[in-house]
Parts: sequence; structure tokens; C-alpha cells
Amino acid sequence: MWQGREPELLTDRLKLRAFRMADLPDLHAIDSDPAVTYFRGIEPMTQEESEAWVRRAQKGTPKAGRKHFSWCIRRRQDDAFVGFTLLRSTRLEYQEWEVGYCLAQAQWGQGYATEATRGTLEFAYRQLSAHRVVANVYPQNEPSLKLLRKLGFREEARQLETYFEHGEWQDNVQYALLSREWEQRAD
Ligand SMILES: CC(C)(COP(=O)(O)OP(=O)(O)OC[C@H]1O[C@@H](n2cnc3c(N)ncnc32)[C@H](O)[C@@H]1OP(=O)(O)O)[C@@H](O)C(=O)NCCC(=O)NCCS
Repeated sequence: MWQGREPELLTDRLKLRAFRMADLPDLHAIDSDPAVTYFRGIEPMTQEESEAWVRRAQKGTPKAGRKHFSWCIRRRQDDAFVGFTLLRSTRLEYQEWEVGYCLAQAQWGQGYATEATRGTLEFAYRQLSAHRVVANVYPQNEPSLKLLRKLGFREEARQLETYFEHGEWQDNVQYALLSREWEQRAD
């Protein structure tokens, strides 16, 4: 059970840390970009919605332990904003968590999402003792599917028309990775 705020996580090129209100302009720039929000299954957010999101992320820790984590990703070299990663408890009693990731368009295609997600998973398995981590992806989100496969995730389910988002029914692909698969991975 983890009771504190998000710890700082360092990877080769990136620093992941808890969100601060000073991150709001950078966060809102991606929250209001339809190319970024589409595959999150949401519409572009207002400034107020982004601000409320940061406030929720900063809220105190419940005694039962944290069920949501969000990390602001910044480049170590120049502190440039890269995006964020998330962990959300899906089945607490079975140590299952869902991972999420989202990058500013300017930072796509450089391997940052894979690197930041790897750091986030390291925290999930080592510090939260996650048994399973799952990810839910639109089938047409090729970069996200590729990232998950690169990290060792397996496709477990293809659910047809399971969310009504963007005015139509959307399919979902669920991926999962067990802690023992993470420990045995080759990368
Ligand atoms: C998903 C996302 C984080 C991936 O970011 P990224 O910068 O492309 O990720 P990475 O560079 O770490 O790796 C992604 C892989 O997909 C590849 N890729 C990128 N764009 C692609 C495309 N249009 N088609 C196929 N492959 C693509 C990259 O080349 C890379 O593979 P490689 O390492 O073999 O070269 C980014 O696209 C994003 O923020 N999208 C919007 C939010 C989102 O979809 N979040 C996930 C919801 S499930």
C-alpha cells in the first residue's frame, strides 16, 4: 500500500514527478489538442477541466492507500514538458492496475512514451506489488499498440462496441502484462 504522493522516477532521458499547478499551461495545451484527446476517448478539455484534474491529482492520500497516480513527464536535459503517465487501481483485491500515457504531439516518435511507461511499470510492479497491469486501447491506435507490445504486453480481449465515445460505438483492445512476465522480459 502506497500512501505518499507520486515519487520522482528517473529514466535515461526523462524525469517523472507529481503534478504541480505550475504545470497547468503545458498540461492544458495537450488536453485541448483533439489529436491527443481522441484516443483517450474524451473531447478536448476546457482550462477549468484541466485545472480540476490537477487539483484532484494533488489531493491528500486516503488511509486505505492511493488508487490513482499521475506523473508529469519532463525531459531531464532542459525540463521541457513531454506529457504524463497514469496508474489506476482496477481490482484492488487482486493487485490489478491500469496504465495510461499521453504525450504532447511535438514529442511523439522519439521513444519517450515507451521510456516513461517502462519507468511507470517499474514502480507498479516493484512499489505497488502489482500482479497484473492492463491497458485499454482503440484498435486503430497503432503507436499505442506498438508501445505495449514492445514492453511485453499481450492482447487478451477484443471487445466490440464497448464504449460510446465521439458520437459512435468504439471497440476496445485489452492488453495485459503479469509481474512474472515483466521480470522475465528480454528488453
Ligand atoms: C500513444 C503515444 C503516447 C505514443 O507516443 P510515441 O511518441 O509514438 O511513442 P514511442 O515513440 O515511445 O513508441 C511508439 C511506437 O509506435 C511507432 N509509431 C508512431 N506513430 C506510428 C503510426 N502512426 N503508425 C504506426 N506506428 C507508429 C513509433 O515509431 C514507435 O515504434 P518504434 O519504437 O518501433 O519506432 C502518443 O501517440 C500519444 O500521446 N497519443 C495520444 C494519446 C494516446 O493515444 N494515449 C494512449 C491511449 S491508449
